[in-house]
Amino acid sequence: MKDLKAEKSLAAKQAVKLIENNQIIGLGTGSTAYFAVLEIGRLVEDGLKIKAVPTSNATAELAESLHIPLLLMDEVDSIDLTIDGTDEFDADLNLIKGGGGALFREKMVARLSKREIIIADSSKKVEVLGAFKVPVEVVPIALNYANKQIRKINGTAKIREKDGKIFVTDAGNYILDADFGKIKNAEDISEKLNRIEGVVCHGLFIGLAQMVIMADGDETIIFNR
Ligand code: A5P
Repeated sequence: MKDLKAEKSLAAKQAVKLIENNQIIGLGTGSTAYFAVLEIGRLVEDGLKIKAVPTSNATAELAESLHIPLLLMDEVDSIDLTIDGTDEFDADLNLIKGGGGALFREKMVARLSKREIIIADSSKKVEVLGAFKVPVEVVPIALNYANKQIRKINGTAKIREKDGKIFVTDAGNYILDADFGKIKNAEDISEKLNRIEGVVCHGLFIGLAQMVIMADGDETIIFNR
């Protein structure tokens, strides 16, 4: 049985080695990015000079507890390097993200980043995207409308709940987890989702990742685009 936690930590440590002094770093969200933030915290304690842009309130809190200097996304024109996790990635380095609900800030940070480095355990690599449902963040007032539009593009969606309540994102929105079956044309679905009024963001990250560092047991495998 694979130790996925150890793989997450290994991939994170490899990625953090790419950070250089005086860079602006994007900090991802989730159980894999967590290990990267911890490692960056250690390096900052040892004298690394960076500033970081967090992709969620949870990551901001963790980074603050480690004394990593933070910037708001709106304070930067570009980010040198971002280290983030993923829920799935394919051979073209297209991703499904947002399992933790931080997709909006993650996508903004990815767009601002010169290098988007994805870290993953070996369970995240797939032949075809789509086993993981695509998170679609919608403004609450457009929930039913967006749900119907997703059906029109052959998806079925369920509103995300947590602890018996509707899950609310950091930006105060809801998430529809949309099932499109196996996603053969991710770009097409991505564009169609982008066109639905009320959709703030969705978890298909197309052409945004430059590199995936995946740990498999004791090894790390690097995928470049
Ligand atoms: C957060 O919203 C997500 O995009 C995460 O980056 C993604 O879900 C990966 O999370 P784990 O590293 O916890 O699997």
